[in-house]
Amino acid sequence: MSPVPVVTIDGPSGSGKGTVSRLVARHAGWHLLDSGALYRLVALAGARAGLGFGDRDAHAALARSMDVTFGTDSGGGERVLLDGRDATDAIRSEDCSRGASRVAAWPGVREALFARQRAFARPPGLVADGRDMGTVVFPEAELKIFLTASAAERALRRHKQLKDKGVSANLATLSREIAERDERDSTRPIAPLEPASDAHIVDSTGSSIDQVVGRVLMLGRERRLWR
Ligand code: C5P
Repeated sequence: MSPVPVVTIDGPSGSGKGTVSRLVARHAGWHLLDSGALYRLVALAGARAGLGFGDRDAHAALARSMDVTFGTDSGGGERVLLDGRDATDAIRSEDCSRGASRVAAWPGVREALFARQRAFARPPGLVADGRDMGTVVFPEAELKIFLTASAAERALRRHKQLKDKGVSANLATLSREIAERDERDSTRPIAPLEPASDAHIVDSTGSSIDQVVGRVLMLGRERRLWR
């Protein structure tokens, strides 16, 4: 076993991996890496710096130099700071979703984020959520989960999430955007979205979050990662 145990939870957008990862990390008392947030932050940093969209080198430089802090506010809510400015809500916009998926296809950006992501593996353990956590960033992970759900269900979940936040969204547009993002993430030549050969595939279509978390916790217990 590597010195710091790592559990990876990869999958497409809307598969529930963010929520599942957070709950598993909380159960284990481990750190959490939301790697998608890093790609979103690169897109946001580029927009804030007024970079042109094709400027790969400048985006890679930002991925290396941007100052990122993941923390909590006084009410216990999660906050992300980019170069000292709150970016929590800004990185969740559809613009940032689209931008993240574009910059994520650039090798220089992925390379720059690799070391940052590895640095999240600190005792007592890490739950890493993303697309290539089990295949590229933590190939040595003790437990790898690939979480899926049907495209229709993922669009519905995203729609509900936005509605709960008071953001109006059109289901058909969301479905189309999710399909486009899936296509871009799965077909890019570098670190495409695909399960690691040793990943457990968990399909969450029709399952509650509790059921999915229960399944992941059971797999971790079988490996004596937590109680
Ligand atoms: O998970 P999230 O939706 O926040 O990720 C935003 C985008 O970042 C994804 O569409 C994907 O293109 C990219 N990403 C990635 N590799 C990761 C995490 C996210 O390419 N490990």
